[in-house]
Amino acid sequence: MRGVQREPFGTMPDGELVERFTLTGAGGVRAAVLSYGGVIQSLFAPDRHGAMADVVLGYDTLEQYRGDRSYLGALVGRYANRIRDGRFSLDGHDYTLARNEGTSHLHGGIRGFDKVVWSVEPFEHERGVGLVLGHVSPDGDEGYPGTLIVRVTYTLTDSNALVVEYLATTDAPTPVNLTQHSYFDLRGESGRDILAHEIELAASQFTPVDETLLPTGELRDVRGTPFDFTTPHPIGARIADADEQLRFSGGYDHNFVLDRMDDTSLVLAARVHEPTTGRGVDVFTTEPGIQFYSGNFFDGSFVAKGGRRYPRRSGLALETQHFPDSPNQPSFPSTVLRPGHELRSRTEYHFVVRPS
Ligand code: GLA
Repeated sequence: MRGVQREPFGTMPDGELVERFTLTGAGGVRAAVLSYGGVIQSLFAPDRHGAMADVVLGYDTLEQYRGDRSYLGALVGRYANRIRDGRFSLDGHDYTLARNEGTSHLHGGIRGFDKVVWSVEPFEHERGVGLVLGHVSPDGDEGYPGTLIVRVTYTLTDSNALVVEYLATTDAPTPVNLTQHSYFDLRGESGRDILAHEIELAASQFTPVDETLLPTGELRDVRGTPFDFTTPHPIGARIADADEQLRFSGGYDHNFVLDRMDDTSLVLAARVHEPTTGRGVDVFTTEPGIQFYSGNFFDGSFVAKGGRRYPRRSGLALETQHFPDSPNQPSFPSTVLRPGHELRSRTEYHFVVRPS
């Protein structure tokens, strides 16, 4: 039944309660969201015969989420992806951030937005059901300047779209780059690889990386490379090609530069289609980039939902974002948020079924 259900999920070491909210839209899609990390724990979507399956990776318990290193289903901040050497300068000041991947700062640091308990307010309105999540990141958090006030709204619409809206304000200039880190397996969290999923990306360029997965600053044409997803291709079709970029990251783990007419409109960024079930997800965003990550780091080393282990490439992430390391790349679109301004960003995941 359409609505929002609320239940306890676990307790943090300091006694703080973590809750789970189950959103059920009139279109049939059902999503469970945790106040911890704003995690989307499960998302059930129909296949072409109407059979429902959970299409996102996740865990069963709070303890598992607290130990997570893969950002399964979580909100990521203050800065999605990497900042080189965990360092940047802004307005003549040098800042040092937490370094949590070699010398790099990754996904907001040691205790990023994926590791905190958010405030949550459920709502139901004519367009759908949802949650408003809130978090205040204090001045100096993981090395970042300014108090950052963040609000993320998840709306599950009656036409099976999950809409994620980000709003942030600050009291001092600071870089911000927020994303949602769900991993999809449209066959239904099968614990098998996602290489047969077909993907299309509205991007004629991507940002190549060095061996530490930091962008070089170049925008490179995808044409004639395994990064050309301007027409649909199975993920596995070219993933083993002899290509330096694929070798650096062990598969796809790159920011694609979205083709857009202006800076702010909502554009179709990605389409995913799983041929055996007919399930698909179409991703729309106001962001300039999308990180397509083919789950190359999974190695079956941890226990996830239902006791399953996730082998290499058993989930794919599509992280809408500004480009990695923008604070150190003057030619990339700016990620600096200043007092008196608002960061507003929107991403929509439309769960669809298509004939094969
Ligand atoms: C992003 C990064 C990957 C990896 C995952 C989390 O997609 O680009 O390199 O860090 O997050 O495991």
